[in-house]
Amino acid sequence: MQIVRDVEALRENVARLRAGGTIALVPTMGALHDGHMALVAEAKLRADHVVASIFVNPTQFGPNEDLAAYPRREATDAAMLEEAGCATLWAPDAATMYPDGHSTSIHVANISEGLCGAYRPGHFDGVATVVAKLLNQVMPDSVLFGEKDYQQLVVLRRMVRDLDMKVEIAGIPTQRDADGLALSSRNTYLSEEDRRAARILPRSLGEAAAAVQRGADIGTTLAAARDKLLKAGFSSVDYVELRDAETLAPVQALESPARLLAAARIGGTRLIDNLPVMPP
Ligand code: PAJ
Repeated sequence: MQIVRDVEALRENVARLRAGGTIALVPTMGALHDGHMALVAEAKLRADHVVASIFVNPTQFGPNEDLAAYPRREATDAAMLEEAGCATLWAPDAATMYPDGHSTSIHVANISEGLCGAYRPGHFDGVATVVAKLLNQVMPDSVLFGEKDYQQLVVLRRMVRDLDMKVEIAGIPTQRDADGLALSSRNTYLSEEDRRAARILPRSLGEAAAAVQRGADIGTTLAAARDKLLKAGFSSVDYVELRDAETLAPVQALESPARLLAAARIGGTRLIDNLPVMPP
């Protein structure tokens, strides 16, 4: 596996790969776990060569968020990617990604503004802009994202469609620990006690999804899920919402595929999760 740190070397590298087949890109911020590696495994099935990127993107972190604390373990990550059969690790630094004078930003209106967008202003502009840059840099045939960050996946699908980007987007189901908690680089912030309590997040979403599917009142069910999180030790709940699976518009009645999404804070760490909810 080749580790590449500047755009020119990357272009040479991917030109060589492209001559020998198709390329799938797996964008990450590193601190890799089995969720990321599921994306790499699927990428290997979809293309001849896999390029992974590691870039802790400063523009998607708010001023009071965890940019400085975000785990960085490039050597371990590189070993995992090499073992998984990646051809290239694209690992630019911030000055390479955003040279002095960088002025362009992508805003995906509406769908990036609710849910996490309401609590993390500018977050999805940072995500959309860096992913657009990664796609222009690597020019892959396909790019893979996790359903764990469901709003991110929907925002990026819209960006690719709106800007006529020639790439196929694949969404990969959320990988979970044995107790149901979605794998996340941020789980390392949790104390043992908070980690135990955190499993109520997937559990309460599962119960709420089942209740809504059985015909329970949506508003009452969402409020009960929120209460459960607070009783179990979450200090605050940003949202528990049922949204249309494609447009993320609020759902009043379950008539088409929907998504139940939540964000809540425990011990200073913000966790997100989501589940599909199909109409009966
Ligand atoms: P990061 O949080 O490192 O996640 C990289 C990719 O792994 C994303 O597509 C994310 O949805 C996926 N992922 C994370 N945890 C997962 C899990 N438990 N199961 C399945 N997939 C999972 O998301 C980002 O980085 C950044 O916003 C990025 C897209 C790289 C842009 O900076």
